[in-house]
Amino acid sequence: MNKRIALTQLMALALLAVSGSVLAQDNTFKIGMVLPLTGPFASTGKQLEAAAKLYMAQHGDTVAGKKVQLIIKDDTGTPDTTKRLVQDLVVSDKVQVLAGFGLTPLAFASAPIATQSKTPMVVMSAATSSITAASPYIVRTSFTVPQVITILADWAAKNNIKKVVSLVTDYAPGVDSEKYFAEQFTKQGGLVMEKLRVPLRGPDFAPFLQKVRDAKPDALFTFVPAGVGSSLMKQFAERGLDKAGIRVIAEGSVTDDDILDGMGDVALGVVTTHHYSAAHDSAMNKQFVEAYGKANGGARPNFMAVGAYDGMRVIYEAAKSSKGAGGDALLQAMKGQSFESPRGPMQIDPETRDVIQNVYIRKVEKINNHLWNTEFQTFTAVKDPAKAKP
Ligand code: PHB
Repeated sequence: MNKRIALTQLMALALLAVSGSVLAQDNTFKIGMVLPLTGPFASTGKQLEAAAKLYMAQHGDTVAGKKVQLIIKDDTGTPDTTKRLVQDLVVSDKVQVLAGFGLTPLAFASAPIATQSKTPMVVMSAATSSITAASPYIVRTSFTVPQVITILADWAAKNNIKKVVSLVTDYAPGVDSEKYFAEQFTKQGGLVMEKLRVPLRGPDFAPFLQKVRDAKPDALFTFVPAGVGSSLMKQFAERGLDKAGIRVIAEGSVTDDDILDGMGDVALGVVTTHHYSAAHDSAMNKQFVEAYGKANGGARPNFMAVGAYDGMRVIYEAAKSSKGAGGDALLQAMKGQSFESPRGPMQIDPETRDVIQNVYIRKVEKINNHLWNTEFQTFTAVKDPAKAKP
């Protein structure tokens, strides 16, 4: 008797669970966000998470009459884990859209699942040019390495930098940085004396910086991913490269706003190109920086945060147009979106699904005793030059 009751209750519960999930399916719009929240790239995951949550706090948790559910998973920065989590999000959680992707290998690992399941995948962080070609369901709200690097190479050639040593992290965006810088710089008569690559995990910059010092270039050209620039700049000073008169020019991740203020005076004068600075002079950015700080104990947002904030914007607006549907309708509504971001104006190229945006040349300056990336020149509506090639 008792057994029968228990069995009936169990069946009722199971039914409830099934109908509950069907209901949830109908009334929720699920965003599956996969981020490196622990491990060496945790600072990236934290910025992305904080900004996505800020967007939701400011814009509400309902779109097209559906409750937005943000499901956040920690992939620790490991591609196999990202792939497994993305699979779970698609198969078990039945998310309408995937988001995040803190590093290039994590985006590449997930792309085939987005394609097979026809799930739009918003890359908010990774920056290797070819990522958008990995799946027709990928839309990018971060930046592309060639987009910013070619402008840096032009600037260097025009500003009395004739010889550089290139030092990049040894994975796809580093390889993009090295290649597009060297191509553009040598076209203008510049010389890349040496090309050095440091490992992605646990890099020790000392032996590489010694080589840079010995080569006596006018400048060190460098790319390291967000969060890593502090240790590079610390060792640059410890080895006396600044005293030896070697300048630093870099992809903007090196002077990442999240860690810039802790770098000290060695960072002063470093010239970088990027799409976002927390010091960007616009009313919208001032509000963004203030709101982000308020919600996060005074922390400064970096370009990762802005990638997630704008990625959420793209998702919300697309969901409104698709009436909460996922798949091709959602993807279609992401293409061509054009809006003002804290970074300045931006657009999702309807053909390449990549971001078209302003690129700024910036210089690290001390203002009221804090270090900032001050923008001093703007290139408007820049497309990824790697895709512009015939
Ligand atoms: C990337 O893996 O594509 C990546 C990560 C961090 C950056 C830039 C690019 O700062």
